[in-house]
Amino acid sequence: MRLSDAGRDVTLAGWVQRVRKMGGMTFLDLRDRYGITQVVFDNSTDAALNEAANHLGREYVVQVKGTVAERTAKNPNMPTGDIEILATELKVLNASEVPPFTIEDDTDGGDDLRMRYRYLDLRRSPVRANLELRHRMTMEVRRYLDSKGFLEIETPMLVGSTPEGARDFVVPSRMNPGQFYALPQSPQTLKQLLMVSGMDRYFQIVKCFRDEDLRADRQPEFTQIDCEMSFIEQNDVIELFEGMAKHLFKEIRGIELTEAFPRMPWADAMKYYGSDKPDTRFDMKFVELMDILKGHGFSVFDNAAYIGGICAKGAAGYTRKQLDALTDFVKRPQIGAKGMVYARVGEDGTVKSSVDKFYTQETLQAMAKAMDAQIGDLILILSGDDAMRTRKQLCELRLEMGRQLGLRDKNKFSCLWVVDFPMFEWSDEEQRLMAMHHPFTHPKDEDIPMLDTDPAAVRADAYDMVINGVEVGGGSIRIHDSALQAKMFEILGFTPEKAQEQFGFLMNAFKYGAPPHGGLAYGLDRWVSLFAGLDSIRDCIAFPKNNSGRDVMLDAPAALDQKQLDELKLEVVLPEE
Ligand code: AMO
Repeated sequence: MRLSDAGRDVTLAGWVQRVRKMGGMTFLDLRDRYGITQVVFDNSTDAALNEAANHLGREYVVQVKGTVAERTAKNPNMPTGDIEILATELKVLNASEVPPFTIEDDTDGGDDLRMRYRYLDLRRSPVRANLELRHRMTMEVRRYLDSKGFLEIETPMLVGSTPEGARDFVVPSRMNPGQFYALPQSPQTLKQLLMVSGMDRYFQIVKCFRDEDLRADRQPEFTQIDCEMSFIEQNDVIELFEGMAKHLFKEIRGIELTEAFPRMPWADAMKYYGSDKPDTRFDMKFVELMDILKGHGFSVFDNAAYIGGICAKGAAGYTRKQLDALTDFVKRPQIGAKGMVYARVGEDGTVKSSVDKFYTQETLQAMAKAMDAQIGDLILILSGDDAMRTRKQLCELRLEMGRQLGLRDKNKFSCLWVVDFPMFEWSDEEQRLMAMHHPFTHPKDEDIPMLDTDPAAVRADAYDMVINGVEVGGGSIRIHDSALQAKMFEILGFTPEKAQEQFGFLMNAFKYGAPPHGGLAYGLDRWVSLFAGLDSIRDCIAFPKNNSGRDVMLDAPAALDQKQLDELKLEVVLPEE
């Protein structure tokens, strides 16, 4: 309702957010999904009605009839701030107990309490707005993919367990005692089978389940926009889904992205950013300093397998205290660096470092030059005996500096594709090669001969989309040849029998005319949180799990009663405390 509605007789229904009595007038803030409207009860026109309004409690459900009138004291902060309703009737549809926290944009409720009463938390407009955004995004996704000829096809939630990837959530089968379904980590193999079926272009907005440690951008159940296409090459997939990203930016955020997203080889991402999901909103690329800083008697550097630095523009004014705090930051156990070296380029152009006694000004100048450091810049350096680990530490330092210098603006977006991932990565835990993306990913044609000679060097036709340091999606071209697929399982350490037992259905399907195919899955929760500027994907999920994987509202997971266990032929053996 707006000013143009003045004079109209209306009926409103909603929740009582607040009641205020001022002299002979009672003001009620009535909330519904669309916002808040002020309702006025005037004691001088209807004393009984005014009295009834004064008895309303927070969160009562009421229906009000009245006339729309222009407000004398307008509220420019509310969409309905120009008007109010002069009430003529009030009906209480339901009373409410006093809610456990105030249901307003700024609430006094802590995290746990709000999660326990999530249905009340969802009455708050910032939370509701996230769900509305999510709805609009899924509508746009469907509109875009439908316009490109994709079919939305559902795949089962009760599937078989696959050992690659994260841990499965499993479901016991009553009718098949001792046997278990698994909930899908993704519909990967099923969508490939749909390609064998000739569906050509498939998508599904689908729940996926992974039993892995939780982080701000991970939930045990989350939603993918899962897609697959036949008769395509990597570039076709990238272009089509870049088109979808641009469509979403335009329709949802009003941002027109005209340029093609950069495509960065994985090796460059690791070299310059120490991460396969670089935040490219700011530069601060790594510069390797081995040649310049090794061999000058500083044993930490002399023994290092990697020495790398970042240049923080204009940060030479960092105090000793700030630098000590940064050193503590990189020494945290989660990051694990042993220390940090810094250097400042002073007003007179000289470089002063924390390791001056080992280096001449000439060497320090050479370093500053290599890093393109100017007067007023701060150089931060990490070293270590494991190059990959040190790069990851430097990545954390870079992100922290970016944060401190205000370079990670949530309203600025930097999108890219990371391409040419390695096919395999070594797992210390398993003592074998593991598929970096998944075992169905096609190796680059030119690297196939190396599968026999140097599998660790083989690159894959795999790609991730990264926005602001968040992996919002990933996919690959798939193997569609049963012999190549069998070879892949062999390299991954499966015996032919084990491969047949676990993936026989797929390799058999490939014998019946499998088309070349590939695809990608976007993480819907991550897209929504990025567009909403959220710190955690939890905030765009109606009923999320907490950091221990619990739903505190439903109190799940929980023990089963003995009858259920008996039916399932299950026995629970808990370790002794
Ligand atoms: P992948 O495992 O890379 O690929 O997942 C695709 C995208 O899903 C999102 N995502 C998650 N979001 C929230 N919580 C999680 N625990 C979580 N795990 C993943 C990410 C990620 O980029 N089948 C392949 C896709 C393909 O090859 O087509 C797959 O699942 O945004």
